[in-house]
Amino acid sequence: MTAMADRDVRVYEVGPRDGLQNEAAPIPTDAKLRFIDLLADAGLLEIEATSFVSPRAIPQLADADDLMRSLDRRPGVRYPVLVPNVRGMERAEAVEAGAVCVFTAASEEFTRANINMSIAESIDAFRPVIARARGLGWWTRGYVSTAFGCPYQGEVGEAAVVAVAQELVKLGIDELSIGDTIGVAGPGDVRRVVHALDAAGIGVDRLAMHFHDTRGTALANVATALELGVRCFDASTGGTGGCPYAPGAAGNLATEDLVYLLEREGLAHGIDLDALLVAARHVSETLGRPLATKVGQAGGWRLP
Ligand code: HMG
Ligand code: MG
Repeated sequence: MTAMADRDVRVYEVGPRDGLQNEAAPIPTDAKLRFIDLLADAGLLEIEATSFVSPRAIPQLADADDLMRSLDRRPGVRYPVLVPNVRGMERAEAVEAGAVCVFTAASEEFTRANINMSIAESIDAFRPVIARARGLGWWTRGYVSTAFGCPYQGEVGEAAVVAVAQELVKLGIDELSIGDTIGVAGPGDVRRVVHALDAAGIGVDRLAMHFHDTRGTALANVATALELGVRCFDASTGGTGGCPYAPGAAGNLATEDLVYLLEREGLAHGIDLDALLVAARHVSETLGRPLATKVGQAGGWRLP
């Protein structure tokens, strides 16, 4: 298995968190743990494991503490967790999570629906979280959701994305993940937002892109972001995903579809596609639904 430094592109797996958070039927913790193990077997080095949020807000991830305690953590693999406030950080500290993500958005209405805060209040809530995480030497990420469109407000301008991104950078966050929460962006939007961030001093080396594939544009957006120099992409094995507070959002970009594209582009990603498809099939069996992703159905492609 290759180390992070030998990879051209980081594939940041969000399946166990974003992929499962919106599933109505409770998924046994053991099935989630198995999923995470299979993802690590496939060579993923960053696996967003769960969220330390209110169990009333996201019932599916109410087992977060147990899951993190039971996780067989592999050396060299990072298992970030979502944390919205100090309470969440305390839970993350109790299980020595080692990597945390805070999450806000570029639109006020989504932020209110999702975390019951204004954008400014969210930054205030994150300040002590990030200070504690940095004090512990933990890796930190900040999500900017609805960067291309909001389910409540509609179009979102790049100035709003830049404004919240700058506040997150001021907190000392390592990486920003720019989210197309409801899957409305096209390549031109990606260019517009990445250029605006760059012009504001936030270069592509600080960015990840997080595409939901609601309207089938996720891979086109990845291709554009690659040309712009972005080198980290969020994806969900099996293509599941969505946020209960983002009506209309469908699954994340599927990790297997992303990996296939990277393979064809000759970019080192360190992931074994066949092993990844084992993890994808595990998700599909766990959820009792057929695997709907392109590469999940077709498989990879090699000369016989
Ligand atoms: P609130 O109701 O405003 O806060 O929720 P509160 O402080 O009044 O707390 C309400 C209850 O939650 C209380 O319990 C607290 O103790 C408890 P009660 O006394 O009523 O029994 N509570 C907590 N419990 C456990 N862990 C905590 C915690 N904090 C409070 N950390 C809050 C505010 C932020 C807590 C809530 O709105 C929440 O948890 N929201 C999370 C929503 C969420 O996880 N959304 C999905 C992730 S974001 C996403 O998917 C987008 C992304 O993928 C990127 C993209 O696609 O764009 C990242
Ligand atoms: Mg998401």
